[in-house]
Amino acid sequence: MNSITIKPALSLKGEITVPGDKSISHRSIMMGAIANGVTTVKGFLRGEDNMATMHAFRAMGVEISDDGETIAIHGQGLRGLKEPADVIDCGNSGTTIRLMTGLLAGQSFFSVLTGDQYLRKRPMKRVVDPLTRMGARILGRNQGSLAPLAIDGGGLNAIGYESPVSSAQVKSAIMFAGLYAAGETSVREPSLSRDHSERMFRLFGASLEIFNSGVTVTGGVELQAQEIIVPGDISSSAFFIVAALITPGSELLIRNVGVNPTRTGVIDILRSMGGSIELLDEREVSGEPVADLLVRSSRLKGISIAGSLVPRAIDEFPAICVAAACAEGTTTVREARELRVKETDRIAAMAANLRRLGVPVEECDDGMDITGVERLGGGEMESFGDHRIAMSLSVAALVSNGGITVQDIDCVATSFPTFFPLLEKVAVR
Ligand code: S3P
Repeated sequence: MNSITIKPALSLKGEITVPGDKSISHRSIMMGAIANGVTTVKGFLRGEDNMATMHAFRAMGVEISDDGETIAIHGQGLRGLKEPADVIDCGNSGTTIRLMTGLLAGQSFFSVLTGDQYLRKRPMKRVVDPLTRMGARILGRNQGSLAPLAIDGGGLNAIGYESPVSSAQVKSAIMFAGLYAAGETSVREPSLSRDHSERMFRLFGASLEIFNSGVTVTGGVELQAQEIIVPGDISSSAFFIVAALITPGSELLIRNVGVNPTRTGVIDILRSMGGSIELLDEREVSGEPVADLLVRSSRLKGISIAGSLVPRAIDEFPAICVAAACAEGTTTVREARELRVKETDRIAAMAANLRRLGVPVEECDDGMDITGVERLGGGEMESFGDHRIAMSLSVAALVSNGGITVQDIDCVATSFPTFFPLLEKVAVR
């Protein structure tokens, strides 16, 4: 297990681009694999999570090449995947296992999905239940609620599903199964989660209808290969946005960031806290909004966060917690129980680490109260094997007292393999 020590910085200056969007990269492989023709993908994120998705499709007979710039996926058509000869390892990736459970539920062969020690603790019933209602036969540990999951797919019927959680993984799993079901499959969620699947289904020619907080997919429609350009990941940008906001005298330009409105909760939250974030040169690429972000250090104040903002910023809470720890007053987070079932329990993990930095934190079941301090402490912090916790603590280190050593940082490679060199590139010391 590797660790890193990050020293305080005077400021952050310069211009960066962050790697491709993780959610869009996963979906580009999945859609490309079941489309007709060769799909090309530029800007693909070569992190461990996305590589797990790539290996999974290779194991089902899909030829995927990578010349270092472009990924080419030789689509097999809706019914062309082959039964994998072995168990598919999804690593740490919740998106891989949940979306693939939906896709494999539609295949008339047997498959088994598993993952690392963290993924095997995460809830799978949220996809197993609706897919079982569609007619899939799925077994897993703890009455089908934990991976490994064994899937005997095929013969699906369409359902109308009211999801109890706002989750793009649940929505997308059902959408993928819906491609294989006879008739129209609908999913409705309490509040809109990221809509990359909807956008990409459309791009590939799926029959799709979007209604208020929901989507309907018609089964049996063949997909056509596309040329995809993946924008930079706003979730990866979030660490640099917070870093530039909290480190005095900073000015940072982050180029080519995906600014899909279902993902920009972090910008709305940080702006309400007083953060200076400008969107420049707004454009659309491969059906997704993109912009350059200009961030200047700002005096932040505490705010209340709940409701539809939560799914729109779901992956950014560890970074937002660091902003809150540096803000004047108290930031309250509520209706964010989902944070407890991410790569780790992110409420507990951030509360424990922030307290060690001298920040008053009150935890409750669905959120936390964080009261900002003048200067963060320092010392040894725990990632809990979660990439976003590790990167958030590295950002906190920039304004810490003497620096922070983050333990167990290998997990950063799941989503952002170039994070540490990029941070060092813009940190002025
Ligand atoms: C993702 C959806 C979100 C998010 C995850 C990626 C996706 O999970 O936290 O990092 O690509 O669909 P939930 O759907 O569980 O909220």
